[in-house]
Amino acid sequence: MNKVILASRNEGKIREIGEILSKFGMVAVSRDDYGIDKFEVEETGETFEENSYIKAKAILDIAGVPTIADDSGLEVDCIGGRPGVYSARFAGPGCTPYDNNVKLLGLMKHIPEEERTARFVSVITMLFPDGRKLVARGECKGRIAEEMRGEGGFGYDPLFIPEGFSKTFGEMTADEKNSVSHRGRSLARLEEMLGE
Ligand code: IMP
Repeated sequence: MNKVILASRNEGKIREIGEILSKFGMVAVSRDDYGIDKFEVEETGETFEENSYIKAKAILDIAGVPTIADDSGLEVDCIGGRPGVYSARFAGPGCTPYDNNVKLLGLMKHIPEEERTARFVSVITMLFPDGRKLVARGECKGRIAEEMRGEGGFGYDPLFIPEGFSKTFGEMTADEKNSVSHRGRSLARLEEMLGE
């Protein structure tokens, strides 16, 4: 079987990407299962594309087989597209997702509904040892709620209301979220690109 190593340790992402790869005769292997678990890649890029490339390239250089890495985050228009690539660490080193949501709400206290526009972005980069590269981007537009709502999902989900809905991602089922989410879209795009 043709192995593809995934940079992510997230089991949900590994399963979803694994399902797509299996349609093309490839099998997804986590970096832990491949025995390259003892290093951390520093995400020094300024874009999601750069960071997903950095992660995929670090593993390709070690393993020499095809690799896939993803990078994602939230861009909020009224604060110049922040937190962007800093989404995970917006409220500082060691912060929790709750801290990040509190910080975002604080910055947006006086911003009216029509100016609370935002988007989630997901970029997946797949690299092959012969130099080929696939980059799949998915976006989900929406707006930032005025308070946290819902227990589902992770990260900024309690604050993000996707376009065409009144619920936050945190109030949706996983299937509902996946059908419109940035990651659902970048995965669909990767599948399209593999098919081409
Ligand atoms: P990473 O791409 O796994 O490094 O995720 C970066 C950060 O973006 C996460 O820690 C979250 O703060 C945020 N993020 C990315 N995707 C989502 C999502 O689907 N829901 C909520 N937060 C997200």
